[in-house]
Amino acid sequence: MERTYLMVKPDGVQRGLIGEIVGRFERKGLKLVGAKLLNVPLETAELHYAEHRGKDFYDPLLTFITSGPVFAMVWEGDHAVELARLMIGKTNALEAAPGTIRSDFAIHTRFNLIHGSDSAASAEREIGIWFKPEELVSYEKSI
Ligand code: CMP
Repeated sequence: MERTYLMVKPDGVQRGLIGEIVGRFERKGLKLVGAKLLNVPLETAELHYAEHRGKDFYDPLLTFITSGPVFAMVWEGDHAVELARLMIGKTNALEAAPGTIRSDFAIHTRFNLIHGSDSAASAEREIGIWFKPEELVSYEKSI
């Protein structure tokens, strides 16, 4: 079982796409194990996007991600990282395959609606940035 970190970005929240996006992952069969709506502190954005520091899109990206609430989530399931990336589509919406979230709803590379961890190692790092262990649920006791 694998976990991934997904985040509806400010453009997705503002456009009322949280339900649409959450619904896709629910219907696919992944399990939601953590979720919260928050305004992103600059330090959190810097930690999350540390690998992009120095790139030309870094400063506008931080401005964007701190511009309004995001919906942060942790999803669990077999191959959750790869599966979610497939469902999200390529970073550049123009290159995203039809039927992916970015293809269906986005037209921009920065304003691309949703973030998804790119590897299991990134997922572990990102989940640690955005969630405390006690904020994640277990389904073991569910009926
Ligand atoms: P995300 O999957 O969150 O990872 C890094 C983000 O940086 C990416 O989605 C986009 O929002 C943004 N990004 C990546 N490449 C570019 C680019 N060339 N121009 C503008 N924004 C970018």
